[in-house]
Amino acid sequence: MNFKCLILLIAAIVKINVTESRRDEERRRWKNNRGFSHPVNICDIQDRGSKVHCYCDTIKVKMATRADCWVFNGGIAVDDPFWSTFYTQPNIEKLVFNVRADGGLTYIPSKVIAKLNHLKYLNIQYANIFNIPAFAFVNSTTLREIAMPKDKIMKLEKMAFAHLLMVTNLSIVENQISEIQQDVFYMLPNLQSLYLSKNALSLLYDGCFEHLSNLIKLDLHNNLLTVVIRENFQGLSNLITLDMRKNKLTMIGDLAFAELWNLQELYLDGNEIEFISERGFGGLGQLNKLSLADNKLKTLENNVFGDIQKLTVLDLKNNDLVTLRKEVVEKILENMKTHYGLISLNGNNLTCDCRLSWLHTLYNETRSKRLKNSLKYLNCIMDDKLEISLGKTIVVNTEHSPNIKQIDYRRDSEEEDLEYDKVYDDAVKNRELETVSPRRKLLHILEDKLICSNRLHSEDTFSPPTQDEVKYYQASSSEKSFFNTLLLVVFAKYF
Ligand SMILES: *[C@@H]1O[C@H](CO)[C@@H](O)[C@H](O)[C@H]1NC(C)=O
Ligand SMILES: *[C@@H]1O[C@H](CO)[C@@H](O)[C@H](O)[C@H]1NC(C)=O
Ligand SMILES: *[C@@H]1O[C@H](CO)[C@@H](O)[C@H](O)[C@H]1NC(C)=O
Ligand SMILES: *[C@@H]1O[C@H](CO)[C@@H](O)[C@H](O)[C@H]1NC(C)=O
Repeated sequence: MNFKCLILLIAAIVKINVTESRRDEERRRWKNNRGFSHPVNICDIQDRGSKVHCYCDTIKVKMATRADCWVFNGGIAVDDPFWSTFYTQPNIEKLVFNVRADGGLTYIPSKVIAKLNHLKYLNIQYANIFNIPAFAFVNSTTLREIAMPKDKIMKLEKMAFAHLLMVTNLSIVENQISEIQQDVFYMLPNLQSLYLSKNALSLLYDGCFEHLSNLIKLDLHNNLLTVVIRENFQGLSNLITLDMRKNKLTMIGDLAFAELWNLQELYLDGNEIEFISERGFGGLGQLNKLSLADNKLKTLENNVFGDIQKLTVLDLKNNDLVTLRKEVVEKILENMKTHYGLISLNGNNLTCDCRLSWLHTLYNETRSKRLKNSLKYLNCIMDDKLEISLGKTIVVNTEHSPNIKQIDYRRDSEEEDLEYDKVYDDAVKNRELETVSPRRKLLHILEDKLICSNRLHSEDTFSPPTQDEVKYYQASSSEKSFFNTLLLVVFAKYF
């Protein structure tokens, strides 16, 4: 055996040993990996059978800041090992779950929220999360915005949203929540906007928002609320905007909004409000905009806006009002003359008579283009029989007939654009109506032709003349003198 042979033998043994140890290492690695039944990097999931697929801004480990995850293939269990793989991307700031199958996600993935120390924005949609339990968001100190639309949520447990120091915006729209109990929202010192629209809310427990002292906007539109009371809004001393459109409110009682000292905008459109008590808006000293369109208001109490002396925009469109007496708006009339003033009255069955003559003066005196436009197209209903029997034809001033084409196109803001569109629509509709009904443009009727019988001046409530009264006018149409006729009207009414 020569030296060369020995060398070769040693070399072979060393090689075998090296290969052995490499193989061991690989075996060890493989064994470790077998602990995970899913790929490690959630941004780079290769397994086509995975129940979750995420698309990130980068697939590099620990580099992704945004992940859009789709949940499908029958859904994922709360204890699935997949959830723990999120540690491969600890820098995610924005995380979205789109759930693509029924029952795909039935809980808030709290484990993930707890793991992601940079998570700011969480959005979960189309899930089946019937119930949000206490501390579901595990006291995250980084979350700023939580959105959970269309998740079939029915119940919010006490402390469901609690100890979330940085959350400013919370949206739980388009779910099936029917009530808000106390202490659901707790220790949310930075929450500014809370969206609860398009749920089935019919009950707000007293003080259910009381810990939200920094809330600026509360959106409750499209729910089933039938009553609104002061206790609903305890603690919301910084609220600026309250949206209660499209609920089932039928009346506004005394001091219903009195807790909202700083409220500037109140939207009550699309309810069934028939009555507002004289102090219904008591305490709303800062209110600037009040929208009551599409309700069932027939009359308004004399001083109903007396408490809201900063009001400049009042929307009363599409109600059942027969008039709007000057006394009702006396306290806010000066505001209406400013650049931003607006009273919308279109879509009511207003009667053309002296009670509306103050609108002529307002038209002349206001600096608001929006108000002028709105008044130009305001219709009222002329009682034809009364008109004829009084022997007075109301002079229609066609010379200054406002034409739709003449509307001033200069507008200052997007909001004004929207308002403008509405006015424009009303104008077109009203023009059509005018040809088939005794409707007149209020401003076409000369102010001194807007007459009332004497009794109207002194009476608060007014009802249109009865059939008998109308017959009486006709029977006495031979009377030449207008004043004689008036006397007879008064006579017929009281004797
Ligand atoms: C959140 O914090 C509260 C108060 O400190 C504590 O009672 C609760 O157990 C915490 N919950 C979680 C899930 O950390
Ligand atoms: C808050 O969330 C709502 C609904 O997701 C969104 O429309 C709104 O723009 C958000 N507001 C802020 C200030 O982020
Ligand atoms: C208003 O008048 C129109 C026709 O002039 C009528 O169809 C409508 O029912 C009236 N609305 C109310 C609330 O009286
Ligand atoms: C409004 O102004 C017009 C034109 O200046 C004037 O003829 C009319 O009398 C004024 N009407 C009222 C109610 O002040």
